[in-house]
Amino acid sequence: MVFLADFLRRSPDTWSPLAIFGSELPFPFELQPSSIETAWLDPNVNATMPLMESWGIPCRLATLAGFEHCFNGYVTELGELWISSLSAADRAKTEVFACGPTPMLRAVAALAARYKLPCQVSLEEFMACAVGGCAGCAVRINTPDGPAMKRVCVDGPVFNAAEVVW
Ligand code: FES
Repeated sequence: MVFLADFLRRSPDTWSPLAIFGSELPFPFELQPSSIETAWLDPNVNATMPLMESWGIPCRLATLAGFEHCFNGYVTELGELWISSLSAADRAKTEVFACGPTPMLRAVAALAARYKLPCQVSLEEFMACAVGGCAGCAVRINTPDGPAMKRVCVDGPVFNAAEVVW
């Protein structure tokens, strides 16, 4: 997500990234209050990742662990607050990218589908060989020719969320 945010911010005419991170363990960076306004959110929910702040990318953090100035809930709930605040015109230009554990990705895919947003997910699987030989990382993907098993290590790990058989 950090590399993607860096890539997107380099095309400011095309992209205005918003980053949302979730964790139930302490985040692996010092939280800092953001000076980048998010009008769609309670101003007290302003903890951010310093790197995103230094890049000028609005970023907010979600947790159920009660970390100060973080959103109390799931990343999908925080994401839905933001998506539902967008105008129809802005929503038509919005795309969702997600990585993380499968149940969260499934929930992100459902959220994107509910709002008819394109969504790409980076899947996680156990990998024995990681070079396409063992099929231990295969997931079911809907293709134009019907469902097929795809290997996360070489066919992914990024897939169109709408094509993943969750
Ligand atoms: S880990 Fe062996 S095929 Fe992907």
